[in-house]
Amino acid sequence: MSSKLQSEISKRRTFAIISHPDAGKTTLTEKFLLYGGAIQTAGAVKSNKIKKTASSDFMEIERQRGISVATSVMTFEYQNVLINLLDTPGHKDFAEDTYRTLTAVDSVILVIDCVKGVETQTEKLMEVCRMRKTPVIVFINKLDRPGRDPFELLDELEEKLKIKVRPLSWPISNGDTFQGVYNLYDSQLNLFESDKQKIEREKILIKDIKQPELEQYIGKYAGQLREDVELVEGVYEAFDENPYKHGDLAPVFFGSALNNFGVKELLDTFIRIAPHPVGRKSETREIKPTEKAFTGFIFKIHANLDPNHRDRIAFLRVCSGEFERNKFFHHVRLDKKLKFANPASFMAQSKQMIEHAYAGDVIGLYDTGNFKIGDGLSEGEKIHFIGIPSFSPEIFKEVVNKDPMKSKQLEKGIQQLTEEGLAQLFTQRSGNKKYIGTVGELQFEVIQYRLKNEYSASCDFHGMNFYCACWISSTSKAKLEEFCRHKEQFIVLDKQKKLVFLAQSKGVLDITMNNYPDIEFRFTSEFVV
Ligand code: G4P
Repeated sequence: MSSKLQSEISKRRTFAIISHPDAGKTTLTEKFLLYGGAIQTAGAVKSNKIKKTASSDFMEIERQRGISVATSVMTFEYQNVLINLLDTPGHKDFAEDTYRTLTAVDSVILVIDCVKGVETQTEKLMEVCRMRKTPVIVFINKLDRPGRDPFELLDELEEKLKIKVRPLSWPISNGDTFQGVYNLYDSQLNLFESDKQKIEREKILIKDIKQPELEQYIGKYAGQLREDVELVEGVYEAFDENPYKHGDLAPVFFGSALNNFGVKELLDTFIRIAPHPVGRKSETREIKPTEKAFTGFIFKIHANLDPNHRDRIAFLRVCSGEFERNKFFHHVRLDKKLKFANPASFMAQSKQMIEHAYAGDVIGLYDTGNFKIGDGLSEGEKIHFIGIPSFSPEIFKEVVNKDPMKSKQLEKGIQQLTEEGLAQLFTQRSGNKKYIGTVGELQFEVIQYRLKNEYSASCDFHGMNFYCACWISSTSKAKLEEFCRHKEQFIVLDKQKKLVFLAQSKGVLDITMNNYPDIEFRFTSEFVV
């Protein structure tokens, strides 16, 4: 391995900010970009966000998603560290996109609203992080609002997110009386002032919070802080980077993204402790980022719905070695050599052509239909990356062809759109029925629109009352076959021809799991161990 490659890799941190919608992800992203000098004023990345008002109009959402392609990956430098911040769509209907993006990062920052605590989308996202053992830093946001007790919030994090936490800063009151945070790591007091643009703030070193000088700064709140800190030090073990790096312990910060308060501490700690690009698993072996030969995989495909620009961008995470523009690489699934004339990297609002990319980087490749989610590129090795699973959809509908003359077009359209990752396709094992599964209603509109415009096909969707999809397996082939025969109507195949059981309700699922102890029911298409 060349020392150039080594130094490029150790310079990089690739991560995502995740949250339930409205917790403050966009605001925090923006503050990070301000620190990185990638934007000059607050408000510049707002267009990145899918506006709530647009929730019923998918073309408007697509238009906004078009804008957000430019900010899918935001690359900036901060204190000589090259940060690749991957954007995740806040809109719930695009949750699958977010889950897949998490396969391309090495760590995450999870934003929690201090008033609302852990919300549903947060739990789901954390489940994906836990599965992959992704290191997580928590930022509890909006301390300028009257929020919940910090101890209660930390307990809720541990309980609902099933991860141990360790506060590294501590809030002093909240809402109108919010005084600031005390940094437990370097014993500094950071006094709150409401200023959205301020970048540097003065810190006060208070080596021993027992000293009366604390009263000078925070008056009557000093007593409470002393009590809280004593309790924190008593309850939580000292922070250790190792369990954090293994995804077992999440350091927690408090602040207010809107007021740019507590954000610098978060970013400074992030660049100090967050992992460098880490390896990825393939069916045959683990690929290390420092390997000389280039490898990478596609985790997201963005299709432009504008009929005048019907291009697709496939997003590739570089896993090892060096990617080069115009060099031939091996497309493993197609067993074909491809080269890329215009690979792009993204910086705030603009795209740039790149010549090289290194492990940890995410680049956009213009695609004319060669890529599927999960595809690997290499310098010749037949690598099949694993760890890019599908999750059970929440809404299921049967596809009904509206135009029998166009069945071929419909078949092709459904096939290609689901390969892009727009929705999941399940085909009945012992029949011809096709079901589409999604996380949100919006995708059905998108599918109908695209079928019509790109494939001249049309279909209806019939709602199905399925509760979830379970990927099934068994050590006994005979038992699995017997189960499939008994439940014939509910057995379907996913895109990779894996067996899936569609359960009609939680009750049915529980009873079925109970009645068939030899069958394993899994809620993701792939199990990362
Ligand atoms: P998201 O990307 O996670 O969905 O959240 P976003 O950053 O858009 O923030 C959601 C709302 O919360 C925004 O208000 C934002 O200004 C506000 N917010 C973010 N951080 C803080 C904070 O530290 N304190 C307070 N009080 N509010 C915060 P909005 O009214 O929905 O949008 P906007 O009109 O301000 O853009």
